[in-house]
Amino acid sequence: MTKTHWARTRVSELFDTPYPIVQGPFGGGVSTVALAAAVSDAGGLGSFGGHHLPPERLDATLRELAAATGRPFAVNLWVPTEDQPRGIDPETFRAGTARLQPWYDALGLPLPEYQPQALPDFDSQVEVVLERRPRVFSFVFGIPDPKVLAECRRRGIVTVGAATNLDEGRALEAAGVDVVVASGIEAGGHRPSFLRPAPDSVSTGPLTAQLTSVLSVPVIAAGGLADGRGIAAAFALGAEGAQLGTAFLATEQSAAPAVHREMLFSDRARHTTLTRAFSGRHGRGIRNEFLDALADASDIPPYPQQLWLTAPLRAAGAERGDPEVLFLYAGQGAPLLRREHTDAGQLLRFLVADTDRVLTNLA
Ligand SMILES: Cc1cc2nc3c(=O)[nH]c(=O)nc-3n(C[C@H](O)[C@H](O)[C@H](O)COP(=O)(O)O)c2cc1C
Repeated sequence: MTKTHWARTRVSELFDTPYPIVQGPFGGGVSTVALAAAVSDAGGLGSFGGHHLPPERLDATLRELAAATGRPFAVNLWVPTEDQPRGIDPETFRAGTARLQPWYDALGLPLPEYQPQALPDFDSQVEVVLERRPRVFSFVFGIPDPKVLAECRRRGIVTVGAATNLDEGRALEAAGVDVVVASGIEAGGHRPSFLRPAPDSVSTGPLTAQLTSVLSVPVIAAGGLADGRGIAAAFALGAEGAQLGTAFLATEQSAAPAVHREMLFSDRARHTTLTRAFSGRHGRGIRNEFLDALADASDIPPYPQQLWLTAPLRAAGAERGDPEVLFLYAGQGAPLLRREHTDAGQLLRFLVADTDRVLTNLA
């Protein structure tokens, strides 16, 4: 058996990368060009989460990425869901901030003034992607219009969608998506569910096995993977690629606040849970005071309203290094992280070597 024989899969072929290992995208300003470029330069697929960027800034970022690495990379967007509010009215804003008043008071912050809010327009973001032609366009929370998928294919852009259960995987394949990410409930960040409630997401192992048993398109496993053992296990279940988020979040190239990165290595990272407290959408993070206080709240407004209502609290937490009001995104693999992997390129090389080691030992 030759070393890295496992690396030649339909995923590495489609992505045109030496290794089928993906640095998962981070939305909301946590991705950086340096992170994606370091991973792509090391032979994996670096990703940039750009859902929060208006089209002009997305365009500038894609140009920067292309200049920073000559290798393939992915850009990631969030498909708008039908039930998602488009903005927030003054009454909902005032009621929402009033509920959070004790938190604003504790940080010595004034309650924010009402301002109209809106998310960037998805169709305009897609126009930018089609124009810039990154090797890979990945998306979550649904499936773009068939015309968009057809246009990606025509332009040589590989499409990647995320599934949290078998129904979503089947829907992605039926729509003509090229690759499906099996996003297990262990994963850090938001649950990308779109056909079933987020807390019903299947775990990475059974989800990967179910999807690879039924789908014809290749599957990438994501959620709770942190080293060669996890990647090898995913391959044993039929995956042709592995996507890691939390492990790359902890590297120096990520834009996670320093206190967040520090928490990933702490004992508190052993206790993660799904919460709607920070954004209105279920995501996995380390338990902290804010998360615990809102754990049983039934009046949290939907995404993106809660995201806007908590924005000043989270910004103050990041600035002051206060972990109790930050969304400390983390997957269940966080306790497996090693402090010596501070550089994203070095982490990618470790993952390749460690997967070699595990698979060689098994053979
Ligand atoms: C801070 C953070 C932000 C994330 N944002 C996105 C995103 O915008 N789009 C997306 O497809 N996945 C997003 N993810 C999921 C990751 O790309 C990846 O699939 C996941 O982290 C894998 O699980 P792991 O954290 O257990 O390794 C995010 C994850 C984290 C930790």
